[in-house]
Amino acid sequence: MDYFPIFVQLKNQNCLVVGAGEVAARKIELLARADAKITVIASEISTAVSNLKALHSLNILKKTFSSTDLHGFRLVVSATDDADTNKLVAKTATEQNIPVNVVDNPELCTFIFPAIIDRSPVVAAVSSGGASPVLARLLRAKIESLIPPAYGRLAHIAEKFRSRVKEVIKEPAQRRIFWENVLQGSIAELIFSGKEQEAEQKLEQMLINQKGNINVGEVYLVGAGPGAADLLTFRALRLMQQADVVVYDRLVSPEILDLARRDSEKIYVGKQRYNHALPQESINILLADLAKAGKRVVRLKGGDPFIFGRGGEEIETLMQQGINFQVVPGITAASGCATYAGIPLTHRDHAQSCTFVTGHLKDNSINLNWKQLAAPNQTIVIYMGLVGLEKICQSLIEHGSPKDLPAALVQQGTTINQRVITGTLESLPGIVADQDIKPPTLVIIGTVVTLHDKLDWFHTELS
Ligand SMILES: C[S@@+](CC[C@H](N)C(=O)[O-])C[C@H]1O[C@@H](n2cnc3c(N)ncnc32)[C@H](O)[C@@H]1O
Repeated sequence: MDYFPIFVQLKNQNCLVVGAGEVAARKIELLARADAKITVIASEISTAVSNLKALHSLNILKKTFSSTDLHGFRLVVSATDDADTNKLVAKTATEQNIPVNVVDNPELCTFIFPAIIDRSPVVAAVSSGGASPVLARLLRAKIESLIPPAYGRLAHIAEKFRSRVKEVIKEPAQRRIFWENVLQGSIAELIFSGKEQEAEQKLEQMLINQKGNINVGEVYLVGAGPGAADLLTFRALRLMQQADVVVYDRLVSPEILDLARRDSEKIYVGKQRYNHALPQESINILLADLAKAGKRVVRLKGGDPFIFGRGGEEIETLMQQGINFQVVPGITAASGCATYAGIPLTHRDHAQSCTFVTGHLKDNSINLNWKQLAAPNQTIVIYMGLVGLEKICQSLIEHGSPKDLPAALVQQGTTINQRVITGTLESLPGIVADQDIKPPTLVIIGTVVTLHDKLDWFHTELS
């Protein structure tokens, strides 16, 4: 290890920044976050630094740096573009045992700035030892996605209860289990969703029970997005990584499933058009039973759980049974497929509204408001519309849509297998019938489809 990581208390400590350009301004802002008392020495002061003067009560000395300037400082940063000044600052500070950082010059530094993930009081720092600050920043972005901003609030509550928990649960091993349950279970989730009061009440209740190992199950209804694994939300990923059980259906890809906790139990519940591995009512009951057995359950659904996803029915059962749950929205197929096909769903010159409908056939017919759907200046997105495509196009024409109204079918949108097939209401069913189409598919109808040729940006080997 070239640098030993420590966290330094800088509150009200005198810190010096030599230089007053853009880079110095960024360092000033960092030091100000730790409530340091900042002095700036520079012969020229940039607007960026002047703008920070009042905000951070900066003491700005407009002069050139000299070796007598360091007296009384706890820490020094040199951010000038003058190599001699930087060397002088580094030399003087090192002689006086004052930690010094010379920006972009690791050889002259006795300390370096890490990339910081600030969820105060929780702070994580990443360093590449000066080898590659960009790599450290990329790693920070990865870590940031795993630590939601609300971790700070979680830490505050843990601090508030720390001594009480110590009093009530004397045994250190039991105390550790208690805190693990609190910090990654339902209490943490309450805090992350802004229900701090409820979280504190629950924590109190756990303490009253004095068990320290109460394991309350809950369900996370999570939208897994339309296909590409990296279209998941941060929240979805976090919950997937802490769940004991993952209940998933056909639209959830193996790549997405791979992101769940390695040792979690995975339960497949269907559904394909003619093959429902488990009927909906049984899925509702399964979720409730798993939670009642103390499990944290992720119910992973393709797209968004509340768009043709029967998410409403699943949480209704959970509500009736008093089981904690939360719903995490996902990118719905309409949004994902349209974006990846270069077909904006609304456009000032084409469509002022967009309607999502299901093309699912019931008794060999589709019951939709055709008159409304045939009106101009709108986009219609049809989920589950492949089998009924011909009927859908026919019905729209019969209700007044032009035969040459552009229409597209998107196969396996957002994935490397995406294909976009375009035509018109009259021609699309025939074109599609001649192709080997792989589900899932989505149909988009409206003049926005003409934009596909121009705006198509996501190219796959298949298209
Ligand atoms: C039961 S619905 C579920 C919709 C999902 N809840 C959502 O918000 O996207 C399933 C239908 O969504 C559409 N679909 C889902 N993912 C898709 C994808 N990657 N490409 C094309 N269509 C997709 C298909 O029409 C499929 O038949």
